[in-house]
Amino acid sequence: MATLSLRDLNLSGRQVFMRVDFNVPIKNGKITDDTRIKAALPSITYILEEGASLILCSHLGRPKGDNNSEFTLKPVAINLQELTGKTVLFVENLDDPILKKPLPQGTLCLLENIRFDKGEEKNYDILSEKLGKLGDIYVNDAFGTAHRAHSSTEGTTRFFSRKAAGFLMEKELLAFSQILSSPSRPLLAIIGGAKISTKIGVLYNLLDKVDSMIIAGGMPFTFFKAMGKEIGNSLCEDDFIEEARKILDKANEKGIKIYFPVDHVISQKLEPGLEIKTTNNENVPEGYIGLDIGPETLKLYAELINSSKTIIWNGPLGAFETKPFDEGTMAICRIIAKAKGICVAGGGDTVSAINQSNLEKAFYHISTGGGASLELLEGKILPGVAALDRYVQDRSMKLIAANWKMNKSPCEAMEFIDELIKKISETKPSGSDILIFPTYLALKETICKSRGTEISIGAQNAYFKDSGAYTGEISVAMLKEAGCKFILIGHSERRTVFREDDELINEKIKAVLANGLNLVFCLGETLEERKQNKTFDVILKQFKKGLDEITDIDRLVIAYEPVWAIGTGVTATPEQAQEVHEYIRDLLLRQFGKEAADRTRILYGGSVTPENVKELMIQKDIDGALVGGASLETGKYLRLVFYK
Ligand code: 13P
Repeated sequence: MATLSLRDLNLSGRQVFMRVDFNVPIKNGKITDDTRIKAALPSITYILEEGASLILCSHLGRPKGDNNSEFTLKPVAINLQELTGKTVLFVENLDDPILKKPLPQGTLCLLENIRFDKGEEKNYDILSEKLGKLGDIYVNDAFGTAHRAHSSTEGTTRFFSRKAAGFLMEKELLAFSQILSSPSRPLLAIIGGAKISTKIGVLYNLLDKVDSMIIAGGMPFTFFKAMGKEIGNSLCEDDFIEEARKILDKANEKGIKIYFPVDHVISQKLEPGLEIKTTNNENVPEGYIGLDIGPETLKLYAELINSSKTIIWNGPLGAFETKPFDEGTMAICRIIAKAKGICVAGGGDTVSAINQSNLEKAFYHISTGGGASLELLEGKILPGVAALDRYVQDRSMKLIAANWKMNKSPCEAMEFIDELIKKISETKPSGSDILIFPTYLALKETICKSRGTEISIGAQNAYFKDSGAYTGEISVAMLKEAGCKFILIGHSERRTVFREDDELINEKIKAVLANGLNLVFCLGETLEERKQNKTFDVILKQFKKGLDEITDIDRLVIAYEPVWAIGTGVTATPEQAQEVHEYIRDLLLRQFGKEAADRTRILYGGSVTPENVKELMIQKDIDGALVGGASLETGKYLRLVFYK
């Protein structure tokens, strides 16, 4: 997991803005279940103990942008006060003057329901920016809302350069990544619930991961209809019969057995007190509805559960809300609790079944997020999680990037980073952002060493395909998995020595952005082109083609590197560099608008040294440097980073 953790940040004296999920059930002004509030306590306590002040932000229910007292978070403030033993400052209005100055260290503040603001669900910039002013560090501990791209979960991350996942978020992500990427096998998925339409993505994705799968609840009947079985009046989504066939085909192809119920508890209506029967096979007779799994199914499922090492469970196995059709689900809950394998469970009804059984402790992980956990099972990246890795371009800080090219062994790279960290911790802040591009071989070591520091590590190149027969190449997804934050694309050495053209560079840029990584996109003219007065034409062509079909440049940094200045000792004069930088900013303005143009960093590269760095950096449109030779010695690189 590349996302920073709370533990990685220095919180002392800072103000933290934390998105939490306090969407708890409230009846007559009283909280009926405060599990979600308790789940956020470890992060809250830690932040306060580390010496920060803390502003908490949450939604409650769906007030749809109206200030509706039914959805106030006041009862939560009271509960939180009792749980923490600390005074909770409840702030009803984001324009309250109390929020205009930093809060005293140790203050715990809770904002009123953020969904009272119409901008929240629409992810409006105005609200995002307002929230961005409420702290110097952003933490997201609201796993249950991380699948929503709202202002407080996504938009506002553009206004925080320091961001981290809270402990609950971290725990949730870790549990899911563990079972989905390196589970102990056999891995069994139990997917229940009413409709297949809401779980198609999950079924497809899990068929690539599991060893066997149980499909139960209301879903089997659409499959049964596809197989020509009798389903009586059971729930069936006729529009998804074809989809059900495709899922069966995929399971067949993969050799994964799907275990449907082999008998059912049936009744004529979903009402308590009516006559209940059990079928002796998977068919449901006319006039009846399949409402729960039967005893033979339970036996079969118990065997499967007991022979699995890892179980993913999402969705009840019958019409759980109406007794006695909850019995199958409750029985499965007890079987899983006793089984040796570990179980990660998620989804509203599943979690409430586990809570009713009082067997929570026997589960390895019970997710606090319904929709969010489903999206993880679908293999999706949650917007609230991706946003934590968002690189924020802060043009008031120069970005001093080191391109080590084909230099430094992993050992040398580690020594360099060690020295850098030591120096940075000894001195006052450098005022520069640090980004290092080591060789592929040194990535692992440098990423490990720089974890929790403000040093970012990037890769010097990547191929745009995710996988396949591309001997010698490494995909963007692989580099992301390894913990890279940036990829360098379009360096002139790749253009000239490795014959990369604008089209290939464009594919690579698309791949980097699609994977949610940041990039430094290089462009620049040769000496010949400059002599022929073609500099601007060349830049225009490289810019247009490289960024063709790109619409969002939040994660883009541009580096102007005149080829004639690279490694030659001949630097562009500050005026020459500024002229081209201004031209590039104008291209940004025309293609992506003023806001993007104002925000995007443009670096200069080509024989930057400690001697010439300052005169370059003071130019209006130069936002940092991409340095080769002078970045190889710690002493020299430090002089660049601390050039001010
Ligand atoms: P030099 O700083 O060695 O000229 O290299 C510049 C460069 O190519 C950085 O990418």
